[in-house]
Amino acid sequence: MTDLTQFARGLPKAELHLHIEGSLEPEQMFEFGRRNGVALPFRTVEEVRAAYAFGNLQDFLDIYYQGAGVLMTEDDFRDLAMAYFRRVAADGCRHVELFFDPQTHTDRGLPFSVAADGLLAGMAEAERDLGVTSSLILCFLRHLDEDAAFATLRMAESYLDRIVGVGLDSSEVGHPPSKFARVFAAAGERGLKRVAHAGEEGPPEYVWEALDLLHVDRIDHGNRALEDDRLVARLASEGMTLTVCPLSNLKLCGVSDLKLHPLKRMLELGLKPTVNSDDPAYFGGYVGENFTQITEALSLSRDDLVTLAKNSFTGSFLPPEVAERHVAAIDAYVSANS
Ligand code: HPA
Ligand code: ZN
Repeated sequence: MTDLTQFARGLPKAELHLHIEGSLEPEQMFEFGRRNGVALPFRTVEEVRAAYAFGNLQDFLDIYYQGAGVLMTEDDFRDLAMAYFRRVAADGCRHVELFFDPQTHTDRGLPFSVAADGLLAGMAEAERDLGVTSSLILCFLRHLDEDAAFATLRMAESYLDRIVGVGLDSSEVGHPPSKFARVFAAAGERGLKRVAHAGEEGPPEYVWEALDLLHVDRIDHGNRALEDDRLVARLASEGMTLTVCPLSNLKLCGVSDLKLHPLKRMLELGLKPTVNSDDPAYFGGYVGENFTQITEALSLSRDDLVTLAKNSFTGSFLPPEVAERHVAAIDAYVSANS
């Protein structure tokens, strides 16, 4: 590691775009499959990894939903979360706002509580044992209809004091944010924050819709917003946080080379990007690895790295005074390492 990539690894940071089901490593897939009696169409970890050659988002989603089928018990979800937290604690991560996909599990017959209680147990353990805080974001699957999203919100009713917000993920193209305007309004009425994947593969119009129809507090990805100058101006003037995922964009062929990734341009345009892993077990690295590889590919400066790390806290849903304490910890880290 160079001095700069080492500096990036140690920087206090938050992760704001992480699908916990996407942290399922092939080794765990076999372990959970074995203990739950769920058969897998693979014989070895190498075979699984060899299948992770994706041409687009849908190629990935097909295998990701299949992998999630080994998660059956609260303990599975707790273990999954703890394994993730242990890895990112070593990457300087102090806070995580993690996505989960309840419909992936309730549609297999698991009660809503299995994933929710298991994850909440892992989150409490991570805070106690690792000092990493976290909150939960419930994502609606956009390839399903809005009634199914409403049903999921109803299932979550008794958990809403432990869920910070709702999100929108899965197959983007053909499933615009407008499809979910009513359920996002209902979530807003319940005091939940709102985020949505937009502009990962979908056009800039989807980012406009996420802003104007879903009233989002953050945009997940947002890469294709750069195709629309008026949209860039809007995002910049609102100080809208973008949760950018470099290795995900590379693996899903949004960029052909990390050197062509738009992160640096986002910073130059006055936007507010953050660096995140998305689905680290599938895309080749956790948040620290995303920082390392994008720093080298785009020759990011020390100041760029500090800005990205600060954005991750000021763009989080932490109370402002807590976010400010994390920003102060970044300043202390910079002083101690200069
Ligand atoms: N994009 C959209 N939906 C997802 C993703 C992603 O990268 N990962 C898990 N669900
Ligand atoms: Zn995502």
